[in-house]
Amino acid sequence: MHTSTFATALAFGSVALGAQLTQVPNYGGNARARPGMWVYVPDQVKSDALVVAIHSCQSSAQAYFQNSKIPWKQGSDRKGYVTVWPSSTTQCWDVSSKSSLSHDGGGDSNAIANMIKYAITQYKIDPAKVFVTGGSSGAMMSNVLAATYPDLITAVSLYSGVPAGCFVSSSGQSAAWNSTCSGGQSRASAQQWGDVVRAMYPGYNGTRPRMQIWHGSVDTTLAPQNYQETIKQWTNVFGVSETPTSSKPNTPEMNYRTDDFGPNVEGIWAQGVGHSVPSHLDASEAWFGL
Ligand SMILES: *[C@@H]1O[C@H](CO)[C@@H](O)[C@H](O)[C@H]1NC(C)=O
Ligand SMILES: *[C@@H]1O[C@H](CO)[C@@H](O)[C@H](O)[C@H]1NC(C)=O
Repeated sequence: MHTSTFATALAFGSVALGAQLTQVPNYGGNARARPGMWVYVPDQVKSDALVVAIHSCQSSAQAYFQNSKIPWKQGSDRKGYVTVWPSSTTQCWDVSSKSSLSHDGGGDSNAIANMIKYAITQYKIDPAKVFVTGGSSGAMMSNVLAATYPDLITAVSLYSGVPAGCFVSSSGQSAAWNSTCSGGQSRASAQQWGDVVRAMYPGYNGTRPRMQIWHGSVDTTLAPQNYQETIKQWTNVFGVSETPTSSKPNTPEMNYRTDDFGPNVEGIWAQGVGHSVPSHLDASEAWFGL
């Protein structure tokens, strides 16, 4: 910017630099994993809610933030809530190692939990309004966070993931791909999937995040079966039937079906949609109560 332009802007009393995605160099905590933390504080903060938006594989906080199909910046500008954008140091999030699949295990999930704690203090967030969303690898991480940090997260809206613990690596490798799970061959009973979640934070008996689960029927990256497996998992955790109490066709749009499983679990099956289902800002915000 030319000095004269800057001076003119000052003279008009409004240097409209505008809110920007900004890195938080040190968000604290003792997790060994150190993914980057980026935050977007809108020009007009009108809400004490926080949305954590978690990117997919081969992406980053900046790329996800700038992706026109990822609408959370718009949501933040419109409704005035703060968004946090974690940025992985590996191609995909680590949703396979024991450390990331355990409460306070020191892995990526632990680091994102530390970002949430930092944000609650720094941006005066209401701890009862902490929301998590993500697509693909970010959706897998959303499930892992719901399982490992139920004490921190209020609700989740995830797009095209797999159940928490489905990408486990038998050798303990971090950020490993698991083709059994991605191919839809990791199948278990609701009880078994629920046990996987409960084992990630043994003894925890507090409230759990409400789960909204989106998946496309022709997903060739993370097989559609992962929808059913994820539904089994969270309905079991909430102690409700894996049979929907209602199924609404063409909701929230044509060819999408919304399956209700009581107040805490909602599934949205996108007929004819591949990988990954685009974020639906209005429906996710509604699930979050924003
Ligand atoms: C992939 O995940 C499944 C559980 O979904 C697990 O049983 C299997 O051992 C994993 N595969 C590898 C190679 O780690
Ligand atoms: C469950 O919660 C209660 C009350 O918060 C606590 O006293 C109890 O120790 C918890 N149970 C387990 C197994 O942690």
